Amino acid sequence: MATTTTLAKAEESVEYAARLEHVSKSFAGPGGQQLVLDDISLDVAPGEFVTLLGASGCGKSTLLNLVAGLDKPTVGSIATDGRPALMFQEHALFPWLTAGKNIELALKLRGVVKNERRDKAEHLLELVRLKGAYGKRVHELSGGMRQRVALARALAQESNLLLMDEPFAALDAITRDVLHDELTRIWAETGVSVLFVTHNVREAVRLAQRVILLSSRPGRIAREWTVGIPQPRRIEDAPVAELSLEITDVLRGEIRRHGQH
Ligand SMILES: Nc1ncnc2c1ncn2[C@@H]1O[C@H](COP(=O)(O)OP(=O)(O)OP(=O)(O)O)[C@@H](O)[C@H]1O
Ligand SMILES: [Mg+2]
Repeated sequence: MATTTTLAKAEESVEYAARLEHVSKSFAGPGGQQLVLDDISLDVAPGEFVTLLGASGCGKSTLLNLVAGLDKPTVGSIATDGRPALMFQEHALFPWLTAGKNIELALKLRGVVKNERRDKAEHLLELVRLKGAYGKRVHELSGGMRQRVALARALAQESNLLLMDEPFAALDAITRDVLHDELTRIWAETGVSVLFVTHNVREAVRLAQRVILLSSRPGRIAREWTVGIPQPRRIEDAPVAELSLEITDVLRGEIRRHGQH
């Protein structure tokens, strides 16, 4: 009987990549408990691309860390469809390993057998358009190339959910544009769900199917927008600019309300 139950469970299709229910998070501060996130409920559907947008310090990274399981909510619950993969602003690659070996390490941790790792790593490098970079060391790669390797390493985990915390924030505008295109293509090709954090409104609109705006102090869901503009989009497209303007106005209102900047 137990086996049947387990099987049924394994075959059951999950209707979310991530589900947050009434999540709040407080940290102990000098003046007592500081409420950083307040009553966040949110579903990321399988294959959905959601951006979380908000002013600096509103709790975006805190929220992403909770979804990643790096920290626990004070109140509420979080469920994900399997273990998410993570990508941060800093590439966090191991500098003593080559690009290929960094990816192979992720494959190894996932349990991929040794003689399959090289081919898979080469394939992932091709997916992020870094064919030929297998033997390159991290210091030989540009910032954009490092983020591509970091993306390939995150994809190596074959997670259903990719969590990205401002992964392109340190890149120049042109490189960022190119990586937006690549991420959109890879998202469409792989069907992975993405929860992407940014404080850049245009970036949020360029990438997402849904933009969720967090207020500050404490972080709450202030508004959300469904972005119906067809992909691939360009950051200069008129509909992207128009929606960005609308969102920026609401964001500015939020920042004013909380007396920042
Ligand atoms: N481990 C921690 N202990 C205490 N306070 C924390 C901790 N982590 C985050 N905070 C506080 O929570 C608030 C939100 O921080 P968080 O890093 O999530 O913001 P953010 O929206 O990601 O900002 P940014 O856009 O600058 O990256 C800040 O006031 C921060 O000081
Ligand atoms: Mg942050």
